[in-house]
Amino acid sequence: MDIQLWKEILLPYQMAVSEITLKFNGIISEHRNFGTYSPIEQVNGRVKKISSILEKCQKKGTSVDDIENNIEDIAGIRIICQFVEDIYKVVDMIKNRSDFEIIQEKDYITNQKESGYRSYHLIALYEVQMLSGPKKVKVEIQIRTLAMNFWATVEHSLQYKYKHNIPPHVRKKLSNAADAIITLDEQMSEIREEIADAQNSFQIKANIIADILNTIQNLYSIANKREIVKIQDEFFRVYKTDDLEKLERFSKELDIIAEGYRAQ
Ligand code: GTP
Ligand code: MG
Repeated sequence: MDIQLWKEILLPYQMAVSEITLKFNGIISEHRNFGTYSPIEQVNGRVKKISSILEKCQKKGTSVDDIENNIEDIAGIRIICQFVEDIYKVVDMIKNRSDFEIIQEKDYITNQKESGYRSYHLIALYEVQMLSGPKKVKVEIQIRTLAMNFWATVEHSLQYKYKHNIPPHVRKKLSNAADAIITLDEQMSEIREEIADAQNSFQIKANIIADILNTIQNLYSIANKREIVKIQDEFFRVYKTDDLEKLERFSKELDIIAEGYRAQ
């Protein structure tokens, strides 16, 4: 196959990788904008090198003329998450989108590979708009935690170094490291719940305070000044106690006072 033809074949895959990484980065930006936690930590994409495609065809014993059907990871997207729970959120999110049609799904997290490899894989069809019209290409989306990615990157380098014949003593070390990664991810998940709890009560408190301040502001137009100053002093007193229940009670009482004024 001549170079020009390769370029023509790979172009839609290049477009798919660019568009998809842009979209997933958009999700990260949107979360940052709203101050909410993003289940996606980082996104990377690549188009497989021609040399790697040829190598894979040789290994699989398939024809170079039909790479679009025979090779699923010409377009590769890698999504990195902080916590294992995020992976499943991302998988659900992708499944619910209309721009991906999932054609294959492999959960190497519950079904860890012999090597120790863990990740969630989706093969999806993604449509790009070419000059000749719409074209659907296959993309492989790998979703994994930072820790899983660390392991896979190191293991991949060793595969390369030892030309896919990693000696047993190194294999053993990798296997132990894979076990340690599972423990690490589990421990991180435990911390995650604590973080989520803290973020949650922080959010509740912020919302109550916003409600109270809003009500006090509205009272300015209907209540007398002395009454409002009294309410404000009371608010600061409750606020300083840093007691969520007291704050909630104060908010409810304030609502009743405001309701009374409105009824007048
Ligand atoms: P490939 O021919 O490698 O695509 O394997 P497959 O068609 O059986 O698919 P599989 O889901 O096993 O692997 C797809 C991709 O996952 C690979 O191209 C790698 O990027 C990654 N992968 C799978 N197994 C391993 C592993 O043991 N170590 C590392 N580092 N990566 C792996
Ligand atoms: Mg594959």
